[in-house]
Amino acid sequence: MKTQKIIVTGGMGYIGSHTVVALINSGYSIVIVDNLCNSNIVVLKSISEITGVTPEFENIDLTDDNKTAQFFKRHNDAVAVINFAALKAVGESVQKPIWYYKNNLNILLNVLEGMENNAIKNVIFSSSATVYGLPDILPITEEAKTKRPTSPYGNTKKIAEEMMEDFLKVQPNFKGISLRYFNPIGAHESEKIGELPTGIPNNLMPFITQTAVGIRKELKIFGKDYATEDGTAVRDYIHVVDLAEAHVKALKRLLNSEANDNFEVFNLGTGVGYSVLDVVKSFEKTSQQKLNYSFEKRREGDVPELYANPSKANEVLGWNATLTLDDMTASSWNWEQKVRNS
Ligand code: NAD
Ligand code: WQD
Repeated sequence: MKTQKIIVTGGMGYIGSHTVVALINSGYSIVIVDNLCNSNIVVLKSISEITGVTPEFENIDLTDDNKTAQFFKRHNDAVAVINFAALKAVGESVQKPIWYYKNNLNILLNVLEGMENNAIKNVIFSSSATVYGLPDILPITEEAKTKRPTSPYGNTKKIAEEMMEDFLKVQPNFKGISLRYFNPIGAHESEKIGELPTGIPNNLMPFITQTAVGIRKELKIFGKDYATEDGTAVRDYIHVVDLAEAHVKALKRLLNSEANDNFEVFNLGTGVGYSVLDVVKSFEKTSQQKLNYSFEKRREGDVPELYANPSKANEVLGWNATLTLDDMTASSWNWEQKVRNS
């Protein structure tokens, strides 16, 4: 049987590259399209070293209507698109909202148009728990109402889901799945791919590993007066390798025509909330060193607690997160050391 071709936008990035590895290992043929605005061409070699396969790669800005249309025409034998490509820095999006709306929403519009014009009928979208805003009930199920996210970045995810829903309504044979990620951290066990943040990291895990390696002086923990067990904010951290596997399951659901609706959403988290101090303690244990940290006031826009009820993904996709917080902090630390020593 001919292998099925999957278009992966943003496949050179953090989550995209881990998913490409999982897809290749599951027997799919991959074409990555990415303009490398937040990733590096060396990732292609790393994917090839891990899997023994070098995926096709095209360097295209997906906001470019013509180039994207031509790209889709060239790859009209693809059976699905996984759309990772987006800008993702929350703080930057507050400063540059137009840039974020233009980039993230035009990418999706061009992708959906490319699918429509070439009868590529399946799409998976990278969404985020940020669409739930400040949750009323924890753990969060997909039934929870989405709310206006606090940042333009977050709002691009909410609007994108609505755009997909409208598109899929009028394309009866097309199907889409939106995956709402909670807090992805960790790196591949090969130490060949991982997160490569540019500048000062906004996110907790890279800030911890960069502090430990000596690039940052200390971690500032934002808030110690939340109504949580130890006073620090709680999140649902999920290993990027587990997250990648969920995409393979979602893809199979689409390709095997198992989806009930033409647009489905799934939470991807472990279902367990960990505090900032839990993550720090796990890091200290797995890296066997003390971390420099101090407490700061709460960060604006942060919610006190956010964790998933992942039952729908567990039951419907047959997917479960298997890796622990210690696996996440250990692999992040191994990756950071590898990056600094190479
Ligand atoms: P990333 O920045 O590592 O990867 C995104 C990739 O998209 C990069 O390789 C970048 O070069 C590419 N890209 C951006 N704009 C492009 C454009 N105009 N044309 C072509 N390529 C473009 O980010 P990531 O962490 O791997 O995130 C992947 C997806 O998951 C994003 O949509 C992000 O919003 C979403 N997401 C991420 C997180 C997280 O914490 N990392 C959480 C929830 C959702
Ligand atoms: C986690 C916890 C911080 C840094 C963001 C996006 C979300 C999604 C995932 C894309 C919080 C605390 C952090 C630091 C700290 N991304 N922290 N000191 O904010 O839950 O989610 O990434 O879709 O949309 O908003 O993740 O890693 O920034 O923070 O104390 O230097 O760590 O306050 O409680 P967040 P994070």
